Amino acid sequence: MRLLIMGAPGAGKGTQATALAGRYGVPAISTGDIFRDHIKRQTPLGVKVKELIDAGEYVPDEVTEDIVASRLAEPDCADGFLLDGFPRTMHQVHFLDKHLAEKGQQIDAVVSLVVEPEVLVERLLERANIEGRADDNEDTIRRRMEVYAGQTAPLLFHYEKQGVLVDVEGTGTVDEVRERMLSAVEARGEQDFPFSTED
Ligand code: AP5
Repeated sequence: MRLLIMGAPGAGKGTQATALAGRYGVPAISTGDIFRDHIKRQTPLGVKVKELIDAGEYVPDEVTEDIVASRLAEPDCADGFLLDGFPRTMHQVHFLDKHLAEKGQQIDAVVSLVVEPEVLVERLLERANIEGRADDNEDTIRRRMEVYAGQTAPLLFHYEKQGVLVDVEGTGTVDEVRERMLSAVEARGEQDFPFSTED
């Protein structure tokens, strides 16, 4: 399975990615986690992207795509993967489509976690109190949401048109969302995938 999990900041992508990846035995790859790890280790990449991430802006496409290409080339991705937080721009969508097409592969399902904006802000402000993530302050949260609405939300239409989009209501307890999501993806897997080579 080649899966994507999408949703606005705070929608629960990272929280639910582990369960979804675990269900299908594929690695969960979060571009946000990869960037934060570089920032923590103060690598040249971390130094380069810190200011952008702290301001709630996206890292340039080419930088992000290089990171994803390297990660997808690792052996544990040979039979599938779950990407959390990638793609976020149409440029990244085209990059991923091309990358997969070269291998005769395609995305099987795209989970879209749907959560009301005010719930998102509440969740992220709460996390700011607990974890102190640099981009979890009210101004940056609002900016992240704006950037998501402008650049990433429209990508859902692309996946809807491909017939792989699985909308999941992302409110309720973490366990409730997980069960709802796993059932929805399983139900989708029981249908014929539009680009399946078995068709
Ligand atoms: P990233 O880390 O992906 O940030 P994000 O998209 O803003 O998402 P979050 O990690 O804040 O939220 P989430 O949806 O994963 O929710 P979570 O499970 O953590 O990216 C960070 C930055 O890196 C970007 O802003 C950008 O600058 C850069 N970047 C990354 N990818 C990029 C790309 N492809 N291109 C360019 N730039 C890129 O949950 C949030 C909180 O809510 C947690 O505290 C959690 O415990 C809680 N929670 C979760 N579910 C529930 C629930 N059901 N009920 C109550 N609380 C819940």
